[in-house]
This record gives sequence, structure tokens and C-alpha cells, in this order.
Amino acid sequence: MLQTKNSHLVLTVGNNHRLYQSYLGARLTNTADIEKLSAGREVYLTAGMENQFEPAIRIVHADGNPSLELEYVSHKSEQKGDVSYTNIILKDPAYPVEVTLQYKVYFNEDVITCNSIIQHHEKKPVRLTQYASGMLHFSADNYWLTQFHGDWAREVNLVEEKLTNGIKSLESKLGARANFYQTPAFFLSLNNPATETSGELIAGTLGWTGNFQFTFEIDQRNQLRVRSGINPFASDYTLQPNEVFTTPEFIFTYSNQGKGQASRNLHRWARNYAVLDGKSPRLTLLNNWEATAFNFNEAKLIELFDGAKQLGVDMFLLDDGWFGNAFPRDSDKAGLGDWQENKTKLPNGIGKLVQEATNRGIKFGIWLEPEMVNPKSELYQKHPDWILRLPNRTENLARSQLILDLANPQVQDFVYSIVDDMLTKNPGVAYIKWDCNRSMTNAYSAYLKEKQSHLYIEYTRSLYKVLERLRAKYPHLPIMLCSGGGGRTDYGALKYFTEFWPSDNTDGLERVFIQWGYSYFFPANTMAAHITSMGKGQSLKFRTDVAMAGRMGYDIRVNEFTPQEMQFSQEAIKTYKRISDVIWFGDLYRLISPYDEPRAVTMYVNENKSKAILFNYNLNIRRKDIFIKVQLQGLDAQKKYRFKEINLFPGTKVTHPDNDKVFTGEYLMNIGLNLNPGKVTSLTSNVYEITEE
Ligand code: DGJ
Repeated sequence: MLQTKNSHLVLTVGNNHRLYQSYLGARLTNTADIEKLSAGREVYLTAGMENQFEPAIRIVHADGNPSLELEYVSHKSEQKGDVSYTNIILKDPAYPVEVTLQYKVYFNEDVITCNSIIQHHEKKPVRLTQYASGMLHFSADNYWLTQFHGDWAREVNLVEEKLTNGIKSLESKLGARANFYQTPAFFLSLNNPATETSGELIAGTLGWTGNFQFTFEIDQRNQLRVRSGINPFASDYTLQPNEVFTTPEFIFTYSNQGKGQASRNLHRWARNYAVLDGKSPRLTLLNNWEATAFNFNEAKLIELFDGAKQLGVDMFLLDDGWFGNAFPRDSDKAGLGDWQENKTKLPNGIGKLVQEATNRGIKFGIWLEPEMVNPKSELYQKHPDWILRLPNRTENLARSQLILDLANPQVQDFVYSIVDDMLTKNPGVAYIKWDCNRSMTNAYSAYLKEKQSHLYIEYTRSLYKVLERLRAKYPHLPIMLCSGGGGRTDYGALKYFTEFWPSDNTDGLERVFIQWGYSYFFPANTMAAHITSMGKGQSLKFRTDVAMAGRMGYDIRVNEFTPQEMQFSQEAIKTYKRISDVIWFGDLYRLISPYDEPRAVTMYVNENKSKAILFNYNLNIRRKDIFIKVQLQGLDAQKKYRFKEINLFPGTKVTHPDNDKVFTGEYLMNIGLNLNPGKVTSLTSNVYEITEE
């Protein structure tokens, strides 16, 4: 029996010794009820026996027999702090195959993770053709799936649909940058579509920075099984005797109070356990990518440092374009792989830049794309065997680049050394942006030889090996997980990274939707949100208010600011530093969805409910739109709060009639506030601070 504060997952051993899921749902308070539960559905369904639906595991034994039966042998539970660890050992009575189901139960966060460990002691290798992290079973009248799909610069678009009989699969086959078209996360609502505040659902996501697959199969009796794990596409795995195959964690939370609660559960879990330094502050920064692209030199950068200092951000982040000599990185066509400072642009190296930044009292961060190579590079000439490409076919370039064969330990050393050398030579480097700008096509590893079907898995494992080594030496260095926009956003990677880049699209209006999408699964302190010059006609105020709902930063030509814009931004950074604790570590309440109305309203409430920040974005408003009052959430009904607009643009006045007034939490939550923008006003925004009196 696995138990969180508000949920239960009950597993039972049947008379036939198999393991069954008897219950998954709201916490059962009466033990007698739990004892009455019937066996249910097999937890980790095998293939080749009597199961006729999708299996969790399929093995072809050394003798060619394609069947597996798993019987319960033993289990062990251990409590460490607030987390309990349960391992259940299953064995095949006919073949020496052992599967351990591992569960981690995060009691306070209402989160459970599960994965499997597969091994065997047959004389010869066996072939694994399916190896899920876990399978969950549901029995309801209807099932509603919410998924998030996209592309470059239009990530995480929400779609909700009723599942019908058959199989629905959410998956990626992209190898690197695996989440590009499909986010590896979903909501599954039971009976009716869950709202933000009501309905029964699970939220699930996979901690794996590679190909993933979630299948939702409704059988002839309207029972649903959800299988989650690595996508076995083109990835039959030859498992050697005694080799241990560990699947990634499937992370899920059950809520009977809607999606909002599910998100808050995941956010807390992420901050407490899953994201590197999830409870530590983040750095505000000025990035130069949007402002200069590849076109800069030392003098220009140092000038930009002055802009960063003037703004008051913590750090300057130097983006792509600083390296390559034989093949200078003056565009995305050359240089990747040659990680030496370009002598023309940076005659005095990175060291000089760190020094100049330090002199100005700001930190210095740098962009790297360690897994990649341009054919126009010395690395390509020196190590053609280090690159993923088909030996007998034309190279398939994307953004003029290829992926290094990380399965090769020499390449792992090289990738490690790119980062390590940078930090050893320049100990002042305070931050790294780790980019990854293409997915795999025509992929073939010279190193893996006849084991090509291991490539997708080995690539991700090897990436983790490199990150593990880096983190052993640099445990707390902030690193952004970037992938040409939101191509990599998963909890497998985030234990090595402090934040991720949600999208190259920084248009304020688009970002309202993109950040909204990610907010279902990731807390605000993991989402880098930069104010740029994207977004035609959008005010700096609007773009700033949008970026404030994440880890705020800038990527803009500061020298083109008007004096008022500069004053506004300086104040905004000060304001952000004052309130960011609430945004980063508070509970998120999504009050009005931009998918439902031409506006978005969210609020963050701190732990002791003494402070809240409310963001109100008016999007594509028309005269016909009528906005009813917005009932706030998450406050203490008994407390009194002052409601005050902040982050105003110089020269503007607060127009909200309730500004600076005091209300009870009960009033704010039951009666609510009128956030109507008044006359038809699109792409305007307000930030309100709600403070206990
Ligand atoms: C893609 C990233 O998302 C951008 O922010 C920028 O770093 C470019 N790569 C640089 O090539």
C-alpha cells in the first residue's frame, strides 16, 4: 500500500502470485475498506502469455521463447525523511528473469514515482522490445486526455480530448531534443474533464531526456491502461546476462481537486526534490542573443555590460558566436565543436570579459552547445568518427549541424572537457546556457557498431553520465537547459539544471500561452522568461509583466531604451527582486485561462498566505467581451489583505477603484475583484501585490 497525504495506490498479490493494482485514488481512511478491495488489474503486464493488450514489458528469451510471467517474490519498504521507498521483486517461474518495481512516495507533495529494473541470468542475452517505467489502470465512464504539442517557437499547446477505444499514443522519436513536438507530460481526467479546481485526474510526466511514449489504451470493457516509459521505437535492447536495465521514473500525482492542485503538487515536488537547487534564488540577467546575434566583439560586449549594470540585473550572459578560429562562428553555419575564443572578436579571451563584468559588479555567464558539431569545424576534420551519421548516405544537416556520438566514451570526455575547461580556465564564469539545436535524423553510431538499436537509449544515458561528472565537480553552478526553444523540458534533465528555456518565442502574447502550458508541470523558478524586442506593438510594460511570472531576464538593446523605459526597467528589476520569492516558491493558482477568455489571470501565494502576487493580462479584447469578477484563491479567509497595483510605467496612474484598499481573504475569494480593463484594451497588464495587513 503506497500512501500520500491525499491518495492511495494499493497493490495486492493474487492467489496466482501475480501483482495487481487494486486501487488508485483518493486516500482511504478506513483500513477495513482497503481490505475489501479486489485484486484488480495486473500492475506490470507482460507479453506472450494470456494478455492481449499492450504489455508493460516484452522479452524474447535466449531460446527464442517470447513469453514472460512475473510473480511476486518479496518487497521492502524504507522511509527516509518524508520519502518512502518501496521495491517489489517479481520473478518469472520458468526463466531466470527478475523485475524490480521501484516506487518513491513523496507523502507531503502527493507525488509518486515508479520505474522498473530488469535483469536476467540466462546463459545468453535476451531481447527487450518493451520496457515501460510503469503502467496504471483506471476504470471510469469516460477518460479525458490533456496533452501539449508544438514546434519551434510555438511550444506546449494544450489540447483536451475524450479518449475512445483503441490506443492513443503521445510520443517522441527525436532522440536529442526529444520533447520538441510533444511535451512529455499529460493530464488524464476521469469521467468528466477536470477544471482548475474540480475533478479527478492524474498528472503524469517522464523523467527522461530522450524518446518517450505514453500510451492510453481502452479495452473492450472500457478499462483504461496507461503505459509510460522510454519509446521502444527502433530500440530493441539486447540485455546481457546480469546486466541491469533501469528504466526512467514515471512521475505522477493524483488530485480530486482539479488540475490546479495537481500542478501545485508537482511544483512542490520539483522544488523540494527534482530540480537542481529548486529552493535557491535565481539570477536575473541580460543576454545578448536577440540584441547582437553573432555580430559582436569585445568592445561591444563590454558596452553591453554597462547596460546590464545600469539595469541592475545580476549577470550578463554571452550567447552563441564567441568561438572558432579556423572556422569562425559568425553564423550558425560554422564553428560548432571548436570551443576556443575567436581571436578577432575576443583577442583577450573570456578571462577579460569575466574581469570586466566583475569590475562592474555583475556576474558573467556563457553559452555552450557541447553535443554538436558543424561540418565546417576543426573537430569535424579531426574526428569524423565521433559524429552520428549513416556511413553510406549523405549527411542530413539541421541548422547546418550534426550531433556528436555521445555513446562513445571519448566523446563523453570531450563534452565534459568543454564545460570543465571553460570553468577551470575561467573560474569566474557563474552560469552556463547549455543549448542543443537539433534532433536526430539519419542517426548511426560508429561506436555502437551492430548495436544500433541501443543508440537512442545510450545517447540519453551518456548525456546523464557527462552531467553526473560535471555535477560532481560543480554541484551548484546554475545551468540553463536550452534546446533551440523548449526542446528539452523534463525532470530527467532538470536534476542537473536549475532552469530551462521554454521557447525562442519571447513575444509577450505568445509567452502568456507558452508559460501557461509549462506551468501545469513546472514551477516558475525553472522557466527562463526574457524581455526582448519581439512582439510588435506590445508595450515594454506588458512584456515585463509576462516575464515576471518566470525567472525574469532581458535580451534587448538596452541602449535603445527611452529614459522612461530605462527607469521603468530599473524599478521593475527592484520590484521583481522584492517579490520573486513568492513567484518562485509560492503556490500557483491559475484563475482565468487564456484558452477560455481573451485574458489570463494567475496568482502566486506564499507558504504562510501572507503575500500574493496577481498577474492580469488582457489579450485580444473585444468590445463584446464581458468580464465577471475574478475570485482569488489560496488566501486565508480570515486574514486581511491590502490590494495594491505595482510595476507601473512612469507617468501612469492606478485606475483600479479597489487599489490600496483592505479586504478579507474571504471577500477576495468569495466575492472577488473586478479586473475588467475598462475601455477595450488589448495587450495591457497589471501586477498586483496582495499583502497581509
Ligand atoms: C537557440 C536558443 O534557444 C537561443 O536562445 C540562442 O541561444 C540560439 N540557439 C543560439 O544559437
